[in-house]
Amino acid sequence: MALRVALVILSLLPLLEAQNPDHANITGIPITNDTMSWLSGKWFYLGSALRNLEFKQALQKIQATYFYFTPNLTDDTILLQEYQTVEGRCVYNSSTLGVQRENGTISKYEGTVEHVAHLKVFTKHRAFTLAFAPEDEKNRGLSFYASKPDIAPEFLKEFQNAVKSLGMNETEIIYTDWKKDMCSQQQLEPEKKTEACP
Ligand SMILES: *[C@@H]1O[C@H](CO)[C@@H](O)[C@H](O)[C@H]1NC(C)=O
Ligand SMILES: *[C@@H]1O[C@H](CO)[C@@H](O)[C@H](O)[C@H]1NC(C)=O
Ligand SMILES: *[C@@H]1O[C@H](CO)[C@@H](O)[C@H](O)[C@H]1NC(C)=O
Ligand SMILES: *[C@@H]1O[C@H](CO)[C@@H](O)[C@H](O)[C@H]1NC(C)=O
Ligand SMILES: *[C@@H]1O[C@H](CO)[C@@H](O)[C@H](O)[C@H]1NC(C)=O
Ligand SMILES: *[C@@H]1O[C@H](CO)[C@@H](O)[C@H](O)[C@H]1NC(C)=O
Repeated sequence: MALRVALVILSLLPLLEAQNPDHANITGIPITNDTMSWLSGKWFYLGSALRNLEFKQALQKIQATYFYFTPNLTDDTILLQEYQTVEGRCVYNSSTLGVQRENGTISKYEGTVEHVAHLKVFTKHRAFTLAFAPEDEKNRGLSFYASKPDIAPEFLKEFQNAVKSLGMNETEIIYTDWKKDMCSQQQLEPEKKTEACP
């Protein structure tokens, strides 16, 4: 899914289809040109609730992540450029995600295997969620993202509700800590250095 987090999750989760009506409000929402355009820009990864232990452990090492989405409306792809702080270090990665408009999913190919996440946007909060394997009780998960590193209380409520609607407990949510971000400083440094440093 998005960010290296998203990437990690997308690359590890099997492709599963979600047609369960219980999850109807966080999956199966078609992606339009408007959605694609709306997704363009900078996003912050704020947290996840994940059932899969392996992913959970991987996620706990990720202190902060932000990323840029550059959608291409012609070929239904999104360029992902991701800045992730892992154990105090900034890691950059970029990749291309596919968009399945009718299914409301974004995906990533790992070799020949396609990994899928279900997108739901919360335009009012400038935020979105990605749901993974919602029908798989042992592996399901939900991540949330917003245009700012701090969580609007009303969106947090929506996210917690979504976590519950997936049959998970809000105590399962792991949040990132923006104060630990190492990437935004590093990214600014080169410009500053040329002026300030000999
Ligand atoms: C979406 O945008 C693409 C590229 O601008 C355009 O070719 C296509 O017709 C648009 N689709 C709709 C449904 O507007
Ligand atoms: C979008 O995709 C089309 C078709 O692959 C390509 O021709 C075009 O250059 C892409 N646009 C951008 C801005 O990358
Ligand atoms: C970047 O992503 C690719 C594909 O997911 C992965 O193989 C590679 O290890 C990643 N690089 C870093 C520095 O994380
Ligand atoms: C959309 O979902 C259906 C059923 O889940 C699947 O068969 C189809 O391949 C998907 N379409 C795309 C473009 O991924
Ligand atoms: C999904 O629907 C359930 C029940 O209909 C509701 O409690 C929950 O708040 C909804 N979640 C979202 C994210 O809209
Ligand atoms: C969520 O977990 C807390 C702490 O483990 C527990 O007290 C609470 O009853 C759980 N709620 C649900 C709905 O399972």
